[in-house]
Amino acid sequence: MRRAKISIIGAGNVGATCAHWAAAKELGDIVLLDIPDRVGVAQGKALDLLCCGPIERFDSRILGTADYKDISGSDVVVVTAGLPRKPGMSRDDLIQTNVQIVRSVCEKIREFAPNAIVIVVSNPLDAMVYTAWKTTGFPTHRVMGQAGALDVARFRAFIAAEIGCSIEDVSALLLGGHGDDMVPLPRFTSVHGIPVSMLLPADKINACVDRAKVGGGEIVKLMGTSAYYAPASGTIQMVEAVVKDKKRIIPSAAYCEDEFGVAPGQKGKGYFVGVPALLGAKGVEKIVSVNLEGDEQRLMAESVSHVKDLVETVKKLFPDLG
Ligand code: NAI
Ligand code: 2OP
Repeated sequence: MRRAKISIIGAGNVGATCAHWAAAKELGDIVLLDIPDRVGVAQGKALDLLCCGPIERFDSRILGTADYKDISGSDVVVVTAGLPRKPGMSRDDLIQTNVQIVRSVCEKIREFAPNAIVIVVSNPLDAMVYTAWKTTGFPTHRVMGQAGALDVARFRAFIAAEIGCSIEDVSALLLGGHGDDMVPLPRFTSVHGIPVSMLLPADKINACVDRAKVGGGEIVKLMGTSAYYAPASGTIQMVEAVVKDKKRIIPSAAYCEDEFGVAPGQKGKGYFVGVPALLGAKGVEKIVSVNLEGDEQRLMAESVSHVKDLVETVKKLFPDLG
């Protein structure tokens, strides 16, 4: 059987940790690519990981490189290239620099891996997925962003800690953009089928919602740069769903028009926002719509409006991406 080929652009904290999880799960052969100035970092991390194989018992081949020819034939390309935020910065503060980086990376993906499914991680996420889509020209189902997989995992972890139960039993839904106005949904959160509202008082649930929303910032304050274990873990959950054609429903930044009222009736003028997406071999195979009520609807509309503002900023700064 042919092994999947997974290329990861950016061999920094998130990229290298993605390579780590992908190798440990033996999802395929891995290429870790960085800029020529940092090719030694990409090669060193790849070699270090390769040598875990005999201990962890995985057979993935891992190549560190700065040469885009090495990503040819990739099934999935993960884009982690870009600056992370520092304390006091919002994800949006990264837009100007990271659009240029993501655009240059995606030009290469278009050239060397034209059939790949692209999963963007670089921030500000929702604007970077848009940039990747415009630059590659790939069909919308082959471009998506990782944010919800991480954000919902944070929400589940905080709920489980509050209840004192296993995180395995906590299931939740989270929508919207990857900003502090993301929308965790307690009405769609349960513990082994039991609505969370039967297990925790409203103030405790709200505290978990609020903490999930600023979960990224909490870590930036603690360690001076952004998180990478859980972001990489969420990314590789998506990669696994694609390379194993698992049809998993994972909150992902996926292209929406009518879905969730993002851009009703506006053909070709939709946005990438966090929604429950069914991920399989073709990429985003379906968006699972759910009916939102009162406040949920309002919060989702606010979050979508923030995503639209970010995309407008990209278009203003870089008119060729309009
Ligand atoms: P990092 O600084 O550790 O790594 C970034 C890497 O990208 C560096 O190795 C750098 O040399 C490389 N790079 C820069 N320009 C490049 C180019 N043109 N081509 C190839 N590689 C290039 O940063 P970290 O922590 O890995 O974060 C990466 C990005 O992911 C940031 O934008 C960060 O904000 C974002 N992020 C997104 C998350 C999400 O949930 N969507 C979560 C965590 C981080
Ligand atoms: C996070 O949520 C910074 O987007 C990154 O950790």
